[in-house]
Amino acid sequence: MTIFTRAVVGATAARPVKSLITETKPGLALAKKFVAGDTLDEAVEVGRVLNERGFLLSLDLLGEEVHDRVSAVAALNEYMACLERIDVDGLDANISVKLTQLGLSIDEGVARHAVEQLAKRAAEAGTTVTIDMEDSRFTEQTVDIYADVQASIGHLGIAIQAYMKRTPDDLARLIPLGGHIRLCKGAYVEPSEAALGVKAAVDGAYEEYLKTLMAAEGTKPAVATHDPDLIEAARSLSAQRIGYFEFQMLYGVRSDLQESLVGEGFPVRIYLPFGSQWYPYLTRRMAERPANVWFFARAMFGA
Ligand code: FDA
Repeated sequence: MTIFTRAVVGATAARPVKSLITETKPGLALAKKFVAGDTLDEAVEVGRVLNERGFLLSLDLLGEEVHDRVSAVAALNEYMACLERIDVDGLDANISVKLTQLGLSIDEGVARHAVEQLAKRAAEAGTTVTIDMEDSRFTEQTVDIYADVQASIGHLGIAIQAYMKRTPDDLARLIPLGGHIRLCKGAYVEPSEAALGVKAAVDGAYEEYLKTLMAAEGTKPAVATHDPDLIEAARSLSAQRIGYFEFQMLYGVRSDLQESLVGEGFPVRIYLPFGSQWYPYLTRRMAERPANVWFFARAMFGA
């Protein structure tokens, strides 16, 4: 993690900074770049237009760790509603979920049960559920739940982070299970025992795992990055690939690249977040890119 990333993560955790971003026009304008709207209806409207332009979608209800069962059930119900809309409206979409939002830190059984329910409903709707990967406190449980439910019900995918030192072992365990494996660099501040800290090392690891995934016939790799060098690497590996793979990018990030890959005929899935709890998601996007912080600062202070 760079000094910039740590500084943004530290600053945005402070309450006055949060108020500045969530309660002012410049903050809301920045959020609008990355978030489809506050409601499922708004996300479906944006999603429909993206589908018409040839993109696949992954709907993501924004929200992080919950600490009571009522909130976990509420999140499950909202994700069920997403699957219902995908089914009824015929959206070309799947969903992405966070296990802490489904109760993982209250009781692993609550999150496991929720994933089972979602996988069954996704099967009926002819789609899938991808489990986002959160910070390293939850990696082991997330991989375990994914592995068990993918083996018993299927219709799942999982995000794997290139910066995590355990990733080679996780890939060896998960590839044979045949679901979608979304390879991303990793978005959380992690201790050096758990994760690689230098960008060049993370990029190198990403390329190595990309080669592994693109050579694996039974799995469905999702190349989740906006990094032009890694996209180029995936493009050239795709010539030898047997089986499906797709690119995945975040709503509002490198739309030019998204368009050009779709224009070349590659499947591109847009990760489409929605919901009122957008602040932690936005802070991760700000920490990735100084330009997002300057966008906000210029609008706020005329910097
Ligand atoms: P990198 O950060 O090197 O950026 C490459 C280029 O992309 C930049 O030069 C810039 O042009 C553009 N870019 C990147 N981020 C930007 C931003 N915020 N704003 C504007 N431009 C930007 N992480 C995680 O820990 N768990 C998860 O489950 C997921 N899920 C996920 C799904 C999908 C579909 C994507 C694309 C990403 C994730 N991530 C994630 C986030 C991921 O780990 C990573 O933090 C971001 O994708 C940024 O890394 P890049 O690979 O884009 O490279």
